[in-house]
Amino acid sequence: MHVLPAGTPPALDLRGICKAFDGKPALDDAHFSLAWGEVHALVGENGAGKSTLMNVATGVYAADHGSQIVDGSELSPRSPQEATDAGIGMVHQHFRLVDRFSVAENVLLTLGGRVRSLRAAADLIAAKAREVGLDVDPFRQVSTLSIAERQRVEILKVLLLGARIIILDEPTAVLTEEESSALLVFTRRLADADHAVVLITHKLKEVAAHTDRITVMRHGKTVLAGAPMAEVSEAEVGRLIVGEAVVAAARPQSRPGEERLVVRGLGFDGQKRGGAVELTLRAGEVLGLAGVGGNGQEQLVACLAGTLAASAGSFTLSGVDVTRATPSRRRDLGLRVIPASRFATGLVRQMSIAENLAMTNVRTGHFGGRWFLDRRRMKAAALAAIERFDIRGAGPNRRTELLSGGNAQKVLLARELDDGLKVLIAHSPSRGLDVKASEFVRDAIRAAVEAGAACLLISEDLQEVMGLSHRVAVMNGGVIAGNRPIADVTPEWIGALLTGHA
Ligand SMILES: Nc1ncnc2c1ncn2[C@@H]1O[C@H](COP(=O)(O)OP(=O)(O)O)[C@@H](O)[C@H]1O
Ligand SMILES: [Mg+2]
Repeated sequence: MHVLPAGTPPALDLRGICKAFDGKPALDDAHFSLAWGEVHALVGENGAGKSTLMNVATGVYAADHGSQIVDGSELSPRSPQEATDAGIGMVHQHFRLVDRFSVAENVLLTLGGRVRSLRAAADLIAAKAREVGLDVDPFRQVSTLSIAERQRVEILKVLLLGARIIILDEPTAVLTEEESSALLVFTRRLADADHAVVLITHKLKEVAAHTDRITVMRHGKTVLAGAPMAEVSEAEVGRLIVGEAVVAAARPQSRPGEERLVVRGLGFDGQKRGGAVELTLRAGEVLGLAGVGGNGQEQLVACLAGTLAASAGSFTLSGVDVTRATPSRRRDLGLRVIPASRFATGLVRQMSIAENLAMTNVRTGHFGGRWFLDRRRMKAAALAAIERFDIRGAGPNRRTELLSGGNAQKVLLARELDDGLKVLIAHSPSRGLDVKASEFVRDAIRAAVEAGAACLLISEDLQEVMGLSHRVAVMNGGVIAGNRPIADVTPEWIGALLTGHA
């Protein structure tokens, strides 16, 4: 960071920012101060409020309380346009480019009346790209660009709009290691050229060497405000990210029994770093797999469920190798899955509660033979499930797409937590549910495990993982980065594994 003359106002100063969504606070007295010429890391676990805070800074959301100072003047942008006019630009996690347009056409779209022709837009892009050292071809169609190239287009767009305060939301999450370091070197150059850069990230280790200061958020609050990166330890930051919050333990009261799921060197495509998954799960045990989403969790679940072929390794269910078995064979061996997206791979939207519940049992003959379905039996089973799982305000024939998230999840639980359950894979089982429905889901999992099931709980919600699990492992970069009994799990340990490289 260059030395600024004393008294230079910060580029951006957010003070006491509060913001609630539907009465739920996402930001609670958050602070953030960014100096000219610096690259500032903004870290915190998922849901900590990082994106929301920066969306407030860029006028996407209006804060409920608090003030914002931009380069010494009070300015709380009431729209993204006002933020742009004040020289603040953000590159969002999900890029906002029109695929079928060329880079120049996209830029023309963004700059509106500021450029007259496509030719002029292309010239501007080429000049800016040269100036800042980003390699971008104005005439390429966006759909043909790699993720890293699209990101460079987004950055150029923001710069062409005149931003000097540049906010990058999880920019390295979608990049390879090599691309990440190139980006980090670029942000340094930008900062040195009189800009100020905010780097939102989970990967503390990756950015530590490239950032000047660090701010940590937790539950909408700033828990470390702009500490010089050189003065904080990784362990300290890890602890701040995770918090002391050791949750009231609500783990199943059961002892681990025989091995139910053994995974050896399992690899799958799309793994960021060619690692492999190793784990052993016993009856009566919850193994919590913590980790930031996108680190291979989806692929692991798909591999175990049988919808994605493993590219390496093997795994067994109760001693039987099922690496290449069909999903129904795995089901016969007691595997049950609660996927992260209820409707993508769990329930069929257009089908009724009764049909969704019966789906997995039609093959077994429980609801009739090959030629007919025993609708009466299906209905009776659905009524029993509605009663037992407290599925509110719905009859057996209600289409599942009409249910609330909590009720739809209960239908899924009712189907998966059946008598044949031996191994439950639960991926973010309470995500998006309200407090009561979340509790219901956890209670149901607890009861199933106490009755002898084994559960692999994959969740980004650390409270959930800490509260339910007997052992905790961390998934990072497609591998299991650590595995400990709950008694030995410290916030420092989790924090370091979550933010570090595997
Ligand atoms: N548009 C929105 N509507 C409702 N809740 C939201 C919205 N945006 C964010 N939230 C909630 O605000 C909290 C903070 O989210 P976010 O700022 O995205 O966290 P982070 O970027 O640190 O992962 C979360 O609980 C999230 O669910
Ligand atoms: Mg975010």
